[in-house]
Parts: sequence; structure tokens; C-alpha cells
Amino acid sequence: MITNAAIEAFRQIETPFYYYDMTLLRRTLAACVEQAQRFGFQVHYAIKANDDARIVEEVRRAGLGIDCVSGGEVSLALKAGFDSGKIVFAGVGKTDKEINLALEAGIGCFNVESIPELEVIDAIAGALGTRARIAVRVNPDIDAHTHKYITTGLEDDKFGISTRALPQLFAALRASRNIDFTGVHLHVGSQITDMKVFELECSRAIEIQKTFTDNGFAVANLNLGGGLGVDYYQPDINPVPQFDAWFETIAEHLPAAAGQTFHFEPGRALVAQCGSVITRVVFVKRGLNRTFAIVDAGMNDLIRPALYQAYHKVENLTGSGPERTYDVVGPICESSDIWGEQIVLPEACRGDLFAIRTAGAYGQVMAMPYNRRPFAKAYYSDEILK
Ligand code: LLP
Repeated sequence: MITNAAIEAFRQIETPFYYYDMTLLRRTLAACVEQAQRFGFQVHYAIKANDDARIVEEVRRAGLGIDCVSGGEVSLALKAGFDSGKIVFAGVGKTDKEINLALEAGIGCFNVESIPELEVIDAIAGALGTRARIAVRVNPDIDAHTHKYITTGLEDDKFGISTRALPQLFAALRASRNIDFTGVHLHVGSQITDMKVFELECSRAIEIQKTFTDNGFAVANLNLGGGLGVDYYQPDINPVPQFDAWFETIAEHLPAAAGQTFHFEPGRALVAQCGSVITRVVFVKRGLNRTFAIVDAGMNDLIRPALYQAYHKVENLTGSGPERTYDVVGPICESSDIWGEQIVLPEACRGDLFAIRTAGAYGQVMAMPYNRRPFAKAYYSDEILK
């Protein structure tokens, strides 16, 4: 909920900017931690979703670990004070430099995505005179029924090792000298709101785990990835995602072996709802059949609608007139730079403040300077609402 006090504060700030509701962020983190503790689950925040320093600091205070996908993210997590043992590192294209950095830092686990990667990590660990803890990312081959650009768990995706390649993987693991196998990693996709998808993940996890144990590899850690979705349509009605349903589904459908730990890597669910893009109406332009509300935030600030046809709720924070229908568009010279077509809002005037909601995940991190536009700054509720 964007309060009246926040709207008053926004009037003084140059737009567009990111606004983070830190109270909601803390509430969301607390809900996740509370639900995870019920089952003894370990949570690693997928820092790719938002690596803003203040957000990351709140995550650290909540006691979570970090899921990284690049050396840059590993460095950032270390600099932010995360315990290196709580850092996991996935990604299909880890470079030698990144592997060296992660080994020297002593990270908790590499989520290994291919046999060549396993061999390179083994060689680099040997050269450094250390050992690498790894989990094998297996492609679960599940259709998460989300947008094709954000599915990661289908067999034809580039992620993970196909179950068909497991015999070769076991041979490579046996041949390795500097690798400690610690478990299995799965990730089915993103923005999943149907718990049936996670049930399916559990049944695949049981099969995959059996293949490992049958071959003499005990799965001490089972990492079930991230992917819990959020309500983009009703951010004020469902501000905190269903961590309870997610973890309950897993606990119910996946029996833990003795001494086994389950790990999770939510990104979006932790940070999406606390963030909004705040933007001003530059012009209201009447077209032949449509009225355009042209705002000063563009796809360079938040690329999700242009890239994935993603929906973000648009609100007129300062308009009080009768409702009218608008195409709300950004200033970028691309016809995909659209926030919403034919949406009904209180009458918009030049200077009105609009909010583009649920922008805390994959928003600021995916911003770019296209059209030579500056990066939008971030403001935090606890700093501007004093
Ligand atoms: N773990 C792995 C291995 C992942 O690939 C991802 C996301 C996550 C965890 C975190 O997933 P989440 O809980 O956030 O769904 N830019 C896209 C989303 C890309 C997700 C990539 N992988 C978007 O804006 O929708």
C-alpha cells in the first residue's frame, strides 16, 4: 500500500525513481523465515532479483544465505557481510576467474550445471590446493507453464544436467579428486503460483535422488530452487507471498532422508511487492481513438513488460477526477515501451504521479541506459517518511 504520507514525500522527488517499502520488505522476510523454520529449511536469497545495498542488508539481517549466478554477485554478497558458507553459486557459464574467486572465498556450494564445468572446478580446486563442495543441478524437465523466457526446468533449456547424462556424471564424479559431492539442485522456473508445479517437482526430486543414492551418492543437501510467484494484479490484497503453502507442499510431498537438509532460493517472492516505480505524467495526448498518458519512466527503468509482456499494476496516485481510459506509455523510442493499454484510471493530468507496482524484483537490476537515460535512483520508506 502506498500511503498518503509517501505520496506527499514523492512530490518533492525527481522522477522516475524506485520506491521501496522497507516495512513490507521486513514483513515479507520475517514471514519467509518463520515458515522455513517450521520445517528446518535453509533459505538463500536469489540476489539476482535485486542487489540494492539496503535490500541486501535487510536480507542479511533476516539471517538468509545468498544464491549467486556470477562472480560479481559472489563478491557483492561477501562485501555485504554474508557468511561465505551460506553462499551457493549456480550458472551455466562460470568462468575460470569466477570459479577461482568462489573457491578462494570458500563458498558453501557450487551448483554444477555440466560435466565440463565439474572437470574445470576439480582442476582449479586442485591447483589451489583446496576442495570444492558441489551440488549437481539436474534438469527436472517440468513445464512450469510460465512465460517461455523464464522457464528454466525443461529438458531443452540450457540449465542443469539431463537425467539421461547422469551415468556419465557419476563417472566424472568418481574420477574427480578435489570435489566433495554434497547434494542435488533443482529449479523449475519462476513466477509459479500453482502449487501443483511444486508437487511435480517433489515427485521428480524423489526419482532423481534415488538415482544418486543407487549409485552411491548420498544426497545430504537437496536444493529445490526458487520460483514462488507473487500477485501482480492485487499487490495490496496479497502483499506477502504464500511461503506457507510453498513450504507445506514440499514438506508434505517430499520426505526428508535422515540428516538431510532442504534448501530454497526465492528471489522474486522476497522483494517484488516492496518495490514500485514512481513516475510523473509528462503529457496527456489525445490520439484518434485513444488517449495516451505519457509518463517519464520507460522500459529502460523496468523492462519486464517490454521483454515478457509482463503485467504491472499502474495507479494514478494523485488524480481524483472521474475515471477515464488510457494507454499509459513511456518515453522510449520503441513501440513496446507500454505500461498498460486501455486501462481505467482517475483522470490524468500533466504532473500527476503514477506508481508502477510490484517492481522490486527484476526491476532495478535489469535497468539500462538506453536512449541515454540516467538510471533511476532508489528511495526507501524509512528514509523519506521521517
Ligand atoms: N534459482 C535459480 C537457479 C534461478 O535460475 C532463479 C531465477 C532463482 C533461483 C530465483 O527465482 P525466483 O524465485 O525469483 O523466481 N527476469 C525474470 C525472472 C528470471 C528468473 C531467473 N532465474 C523476470 O523478470 O520475470
